[in-house]
Amino acid sequence: MKNENLPSDEPLAFHHEADGIRELDNLLPRWWVWLFYLTTIFAIGYMGYYHVLNAGDLQGVAYDKEFKKGEEIKSLAMAKFESSIGSEQPSNDKAILASGQVIFVNNCAPCHRPDGGGLVGPNLTDDYWIHGAKFEDNLKVIWNGVPEKGMITWNGLLKPDQIHAVASYIYTLRGTHPVNPKLPENQQPKETGPSIYE
Ligand code: HEC
Repeated sequence: MKNENLPSDEPLAFHHEADGIRELDNLLPRWWVWLFYLTTIFAIGYMGYYHVLNAGDLQGVAYDKEFKKGEEIKSLAMAKFESSIGSEQPSNDKAILASGQVIFVNNCAPCHRPDGGGLVGPNLTDDYWIHGAKFEDNLKVIWNGVPEKGMITWNGLLKPDQIHAVASYIYTLRGTHPVNPKLPENQQPKETGPSIYE
């Protein structure tokens, strides 16, 4: 079948044809051809620089270097926070406390309950503390954990400012008297049940 749309004397038409489909021998646009030349030149330059002269870092090496740099920044920040734990104060910034609450609900609530009343972990709302009642004591426990007792070491898992935020948040839970709390570890309650907190 002949293609009616293509005049038979079309100078750019090839001589082959399949099912009426014919091909035109169009010239490629100049900009395209130049782009093609440029990419070829670039590829030769790239190959010479990275694979012949070995002058630049390939992806793997570049990644390792960046990773090491990141680790250094991280351990510096961690060391800085660790040395300042003694002088940290709980924050009362609303945004920080809100982020601390999110961290608490996601990470700590399974053991300490969303209201801090205690479950596997102790009650964080009462006046009885296993490791000391000061903000600094709380920070240290969260930072270092008490792995043998089931309290996770958070220092590699949360960033210093996240640990500060969550500690600030639990500071606000003190004295909130949630219902049916876990009883204090370090004293024998006189009565059982929530009444002892009222
Ligand atoms: C897997 C369970 C678990 C998780 C998760 C957990 N804790 Fe604990 N936490 C414990 C246990 C158990 C203790 C008691 C450790 C002990 O007996 O020395 C504890 C103790 C603490 C203490 C000290 C309490 C005291 O009386 O001195 C603080 C503060 C604390 N956790 C905060 C947190 C925060 C903040 C998070 C979340 C970032 C968290 N915990 C997540 C189990 C957990």
